[in-house]
Amino acid sequence: MEQNITLSQEEKSMETSTSRRSFLRKGLAVGGAGAIGAGLLSSGLPAFAQESSGGLTKGDVAILRFLSAAEILETDLWQQYNELGGIQDSEVPGGSGNAAYTAALAVLDADMAQYIHDNTEDEFTHFTFINAYLVSKGADPVNLDKFRTLPSSQATGAQNIGRLTNLMQLTVDTSWWTKYRSRTQNPDFGDTFPPAIPGLLNGQFPAIPRNDEDVEGFIPGNPPTIPDHLQAIANTAGFHFGFIEQGGTSLYPTLAQGVTNLEVLRILLSIGPTETMHFQTWHDKAGNFIRLTDPTNGLVFPELNTGSEDTQTNLIMPEPTIFLSRKFPAVSIIRPTKIAGSGGAVATVKAFTDDGLFRGQTDQEFFAVLHELAEEADEARRRE
Ligand SMILES: [Fe+2]
Ligand SMILES: [Fe+2]
Repeated sequence: MEQNITLSQEEKSMETSTSRRSFLRKGLAVGGAGAIGAGLLSSGLPAFAQESSGGLTKGDVAILRFLSAAEILETDLWQQYNELGGIQDSEVPGGSGNAAYTAALAVLDADMAQYIHDNTEDEFTHFTFINAYLVSKGADPVNLDKFRTLPSSQATGAQNIGRLTNLMQLTVDTSWWTKYRSRTQNPDFGDTFPPAIPGLLNGQFPAIPRNDEDVEGFIPGNPPTIPDHLQAIANTAGFHFGFIEQGGTSLYPTLAQGVTNLEVLRILLSIGPTETMHFQTWHDKAGNFIRLTDPTNGLVFPELNTGSEDTQTNLIMPEPTIFLSRKFPAVSIIRPTKIAGSGGAVATVKAFTDDGLFRGQTDQEFFAVLHELAEEADEARRRE
């Protein structure tokens, strides 16, 4: 990883100015940048005891390390979606595709397979870049490989490998739908929002086919025959895509407020909005879900166009709402974006956990590592 980094002139001059400190630090580091596989062993410790390292504060390193972990988790879940429902090519290798699931997703948009592929590739580049940047600064990259113990889908098209995330027992919170439609409330003020699809919050549902039984009854054709259970799985995925990416949309601007180094800020300000681009796409596609009841489990996808703007399906751009203080006029904004230190990273881990992404993970060290990374990121404060 490290050897592939080509430094620009700007970067070289920065390296030179910090080389002495860098040398001292590397001499002291246990394992150092080369110990990628052992990265998680040191993740329980502050990456550096010193305030500054390669121009980065301890807080900057903590923010980047948490973001790397979050992006690794995102990549893991997106890979599972891509193996079954995305475009299969060398850019995102691994799966062989599931025709039935792909067709059910295509009901939401004919280009779903391309979007799933591209979102997956983006996540892979996010953690790969952040880890490479950390290494370039002499900091430990994040590696969660030892926790890849969750099972794969047994449906045709999926790789049979250990996973970090579980997409087969999700409890999807769709309150992001109403949160972005509210004109009077903002989670920064402590406001909470009702889920658009209450059923998804009351049980455990697959967002990918768990096996070939889940796609039984599918008949290819134009149009294909898609059984309601299979369509419910694709509907669930559609809302889950939005859930995941609205989280990233808030996480980056939240943590950015704790960053000190301008280049680290630039990284957060450059990756964060791509999460928003993902979210905006998925927000639009989720609105095309099929209204139905899953005959196997009773999960209801109700009509959302019932006259209220709080659920109207084509209101996919943020409605203006209160921000900072109620004395200001309403404004169209990302929400929440509470400052670092208020728990943005810890909240992300909690949201992922509540979502059921880690259902079946029995290794408590996994949760301990994630929480430690999150707490350190939330403790970061911008230094003058
Ligand atoms: Fe990402
Ligand atoms: Fe993302």
